[in-house]
Amino acid sequence: MLSFTRTRTQQRSNRSMSLGGMDYADPKKKNNFCGKIIMVSTLTALCILMLKQSPSFNTPSQFSSHEPGVTHVLVTGGAGYIGSHAALRLLRDSYRVTIVDNLSRGNRGAVNVLQQLFPEPGRLQFIYADLGDPKAVHKIFSENAFDAVMHFAAVAYVGESTLDPLKYYHNITSNTLVVLEAMAAHGVNTLIYSSTCATYGEPEKMPITEETPQLPINPYGKAKKMAEDMILDFHKNSDMAVMILRYFNVIGSDPDGRLGEAPRPELREHGRISGACFDAARGIIPGLKVRGADYKTPDGTCIRDYIDVTDLVDAHVKALEKAKPGHVGIYNVGTGRGRSVKEFVEACKKATGVAIKVDLLPRRPGDYAEVYSDPSKIKNELNWTAKHTNLQQSLQIAWRWQKAHLNGYEAPLVMSA
Ligand SMILES: NC(=O)c1ccc[n+]([C@@H]2O[C@H](COP(=O)([O-])OP(=O)(O)OC[C@H]3O[C@@H](n4cnc5c(N)ncnc54)[C@H](O)[C@@H]3O)[C@@H](O)[C@H]2O)c1
Repeated sequence: MLSFTRTRTQQRSNRSMSLGGMDYADPKKKNNFCGKIIMVSTLTALCILMLKQSPSFNTPSQFSSHEPGVTHVLVTGGAGYIGSHAALRLLRDSYRVTIVDNLSRGNRGAVNVLQQLFPEPGRLQFIYADLGDPKAVHKIFSENAFDAVMHFAAVAYVGESTLDPLKYYHNITSNTLVVLEAMAAHGVNTLIYSSTCATYGEPEKMPITEETPQLPINPYGKAKKMAEDMILDFHKNSDMAVMILRYFNVIGSDPDGRLGEAPRPELREHGRISGACFDAARGIIPGLKVRGADYKTPDGTCIRDYIDVTDLVDAHVKALEKAKPGHVGIYNVGTGRGRSVKEFVEACKKATGVAIKVDLLPRRPGDYAEVYSDPSKIKNELNWTAKHTNLQQSLQIAWRWQKAHLNGYEAPLVMSA
């Protein structure tokens, strides 16, 4: 109580002095008070000015409204290997791009590269989000005006899918459902879906056409097949434009060396053949283990169809351009030519200049001798053919990036030799 009274008295005496019954304000204090008001007003005006100059003030974000002549593409998984290359191509072709990625497998560094290349407002935005979170996904769709979705985001290792199948059904099948529901709810009408030749399983007859029965043999292939089925069922009662692209084995990287493939080191054991070759060339692993040299193929090793990522993203852009409301297109994306593992390893040795040690081991159960595509449908309907079909050249380009990015996107270390 006491201290309260004293404070009030002090406050009053600070404000004015009583002289002969008249209140008399101290002119010095008054000046001080006015000075403070002027300073606060100036600071406030400055803040408003600065905010007004920022691109996000007053004008709604360019990403949140449709603009005539500009196609805004949502690239899910755009921080990953294929998604980042697709985003680069789309940006180069003047599309507006929003990348959504939870960075569980991709690299923020890849997005940084793209942001440095396309810093202009309204070209590229990155949203960190998990497609397994429907609320977050719906919020993204309500705050942005997308014209099309390229849905790359997925976990994508056959071996891992057999060890942790639920992760695959959740991440691939269930998350695709979330994306589809958001597209339907927000009237986004074009979908380009990343599928895989793993949905075909082990067909007897080569080459694989789009009519080859889909009998996947591992959770990865099954989860992708289920996602395809959901999309096709939904499509029956909608006027969505759908393109499903079934990729074969993807290799290579940006010919200008801006992007590359940088999977998490812990996924190395599940990794792909090009990654294993480069790891062997860098001495991270002692050599390559080729499983099976007694298949009924010309040199006894398995045969696969390797598609360069530059060609693959070109197929996406062509698919987007040709997507028609109410129409579904399903296409194999491959070269139509099978290469043996031995051929691949020889090309990798030449590309890296390293005499990679190769151990021939017994067959791995579940591996099939030959897989290659018949790409005539995509050629006839989308006018697309693989152009980068020189294995050694594709690997050379990818190796250049690997050598310059020994820690992936994280550190600018360069290999001496
Ligand atoms: N690489 C190949 O050889 C190949 C072959 C056939 C099909 N595909 C398909 O292509 C697509 C891209 O494959 P990739 O090789 O670029 O893989 P990647 O792992 O390099 O990229 C996948 C991206 O998706 C992101 N992602 C994963 N789950 C997510 C989630 N829940 N929410 C948000 N982001 C998520 C990851 O962080 C990563 O950036 C996948 O759908 C894959 O199944 C790839």
